[in-house]
Amino acid sequence: MNLVNRSRELSRVLNRQAPSDVESAEAQMLIAELVDVVTAHAGRYHDQDDPLISDAEYDRFFEFLKALEDLFPNYRKPDSPTRRVGSPPVSAFEKVRHPDPMLSLSNAFDSDGLRTWYRRCVSGLGLDEHFPLTLTAELKIDGVAVAITYVDGLLTGGATRGDGRVGEDITENVRTIRSVPLKLIQPVRMGLHEQNRIEIRGEVYLHNSDFDQLNRRLAQVGAKTYANPRNTAAGSLRQLDSRITASRPLSFFAYSVYTPGANVADSQSGTLVWLKMAGFRINEQARSFEGIEPVIGFCEEWTTGRSTLDYEIDGVVVKVDSLEYQASLGSISNAPRWAIAFKFPAREETTRLINIVINVGRTGKITPEAVLEPVEIGGVTVSQATLHNADYILSRDIRIGDTVVVKRAGDVIPQVVKPIEDARTGGESLWEMPTTCPVCKNPLERIEGEVDYYCVASDCSEQFIRLLEHFASRGAMDIEGLGSKLAMQLARKDLANTLDDIYALSRSDLLTLEGFGEKKADNLLEGIRLSRERSLARLLYGVGIRHVGQITAELLAMRYESARSLSEASEEELLRIEGIGSIIASSVTDWFSLDQNRALIDALEAFGVNTHRLAEEAAAGGEDLPLIGKTVVVTGTLPGMDRKEAQDLIRRRGGKVAGSVSGKTDYVVAGENAGSKLTRALELGIPVLDEAEFLKMVYG
Ligand code: IVH
Repeated sequence: MNLVNRSRELSRVLNRQAPSDVESAEAQMLIAELVDVVTAHAGRYHDQDDPLISDAEYDRFFEFLKALEDLFPNYRKPDSPTRRVGSPPVSAFEKVRHPDPMLSLSNAFDSDGLRTWYRRCVSGLGLDEHFPLTLTAELKIDGVAVAITYVDGLLTGGATRGDGRVGEDITENVRTIRSVPLKLIQPVRMGLHEQNRIEIRGEVYLHNSDFDQLNRRLAQVGAKTYANPRNTAAGSLRQLDSRITASRPLSFFAYSVYTPGANVADSQSGTLVWLKMAGFRINEQARSFEGIEPVIGFCEEWTTGRSTLDYEIDGVVVKVDSLEYQASLGSISNAPRWAIAFKFPAREETTRLINIVINVGRTGKITPEAVLEPVEIGGVTVSQATLHNADYILSRDIRIGDTVVVKRAGDVIPQVVKPIEDARTGGESLWEMPTTCPVCKNPLERIEGEVDYYCVASDCSEQFIRLLEHFASRGAMDIEGLGSKLAMQLARKDLANTLDDIYALSRSDLLTLEGFGEKKADNLLEGIRLSRERSLARLLYGVGIRHVGQITAELLAMRYESARSLSEASEEELLRIEGIGSIIASSVTDWFSLDQNRALIDALEAFGVNTHRLAEEAAAGGEDLPLIGKTVVVTGTLPGMDRKEAQDLIRRRGGKVAGSVSGKTDYVVAGENAGSKLTRALELGIPVLDEAEFLKMVYG
């Protein structure tokens, strides 16, 4: 029966009785039918913009369904459209670990960047340089990445990206997004996946028109408006009350599928087709191309074409189409080698530079900052922008009072690009780098070979405030509630002068601070207590070693067993690590050469803060190991080593040993009398190596 007839039939049934008259046996069938029909009508209304029934009739079906579900809660179905309305607020989001980390992307800012990336892919795959590699280019939606889990075809979970490894459980909020199916249309092929679990990733975003409308609505009721569609999507997704999320017109584009054990397709383009069949919206602008040149054309087209869309995009994501090639290219640190984001040129505006002020960073680095006449750039009001360093200002002849070009590139801090000399009136004044720290008044120093000036006073309060704020930040020790305001309070009250001091804070200390009650104090103490268990990488990043960002900290934590063993490393030794150059190496050894820093590590350790590498960091070690990220199965009798030796070798060279062959297997090492595992590998097209080939691969 088609939808029109089914709806008519339903209307007749509903006309005959009130929900309370419906008997149990009938209720179950009626609920099932209403779920189907209401879902279908919602789809026609929202996705196809082509409703078949009136809003009033739709509402009647919906209300009847809700009433029946209330009367017969046991019959309520997990994919019922009534679940989209949200549920009462939760006090906080639970943390969820992503089974596969949610990676970010490397960027290219011009066609040469794309070409370089392409050449690396081709050579990384061992292909001839003229081999036309198939690429899929997708618009880079400027929204919020989410991972949605389905078990046996039903939506069971939704999570934010978080730090890529651990995100927040926003299942109830995700359920409210109409373009996210509560049930997959295409049943996941049985048996292929562990527990039939499948994870879909994509971008939650807001249409520009919906954003405008929402902001108007918020303004009307005197509520705070949002700066841009992206912030709105992020803010709406992070509502503890999912009924608020439900009231926001969020949309979702799906772009990838993760399944333990097997893929739903063998290419990115195939994955998009599968996603569509499964009931997701995909971005229809995606295209596949042979080689990089047509992709460059596509990127250029969208650089100007983006203004025609009703949603924000900030670039184009280019992916190697074949999943087999993706797997063999693998990932570095936190980005895949098989994909790159082409970023559109930043948006620029002009405004007046009112003043230049000095900002003291956590490492003592001095950054001149422009105070600007507020200007809107790409939907965000900008009133401050970085001027990087003194050389930057001098070389561009930027003066106070100038009209300047200000650029905002995505999430990056706005920057002053250049002055408009023609707009000068003669009233502009030259700026000079101060010789002393504006906060502690100690002399500033310029380190040889670097452009930056530093306040090197170890007791500069501003520096410490920034350092403490950084130490507690999400990417570092992740201490909830310890932000810039509290860092300042703690420093001003002399409750913290070094980082370890926070581990000695007591409830009564905190109660002396403005705005602190018992509950807030206890929450903070709990946050501080939890931070003792953080990884070595977070600690190394958190203590604020100059030039040691998150990725460098991870690299160091992979190589060194503890902060102490790192403190003993020489510059030469550090330089041998791929990804670490002389600036970082000397910065690390300099940092550890100071008594106060070694004392800090000792003090943190004495307070029970973890200063050792966690097992998972050790496991991630050695990115240059040949089998990193690879799963290998050994089968049969090898001529020169026994099974255990081969498996140990795989592990030592960074690989994972698996007992059975599946779609996730990268290589099968086969010796004599290899049986069903070899057959399976051949069926699945997984590369099979003999002992000699295996040794060549692991030792090069
Ligand atoms: S693929 C490992 N495809 O861009 C590859 N990402 O900087 C992961 N994004 O966090 C992403 N549109 O939120 C991919 N078509 C698209 C995308 C896309 C937007 C976002 C995503 C991710 C960020 C990466």
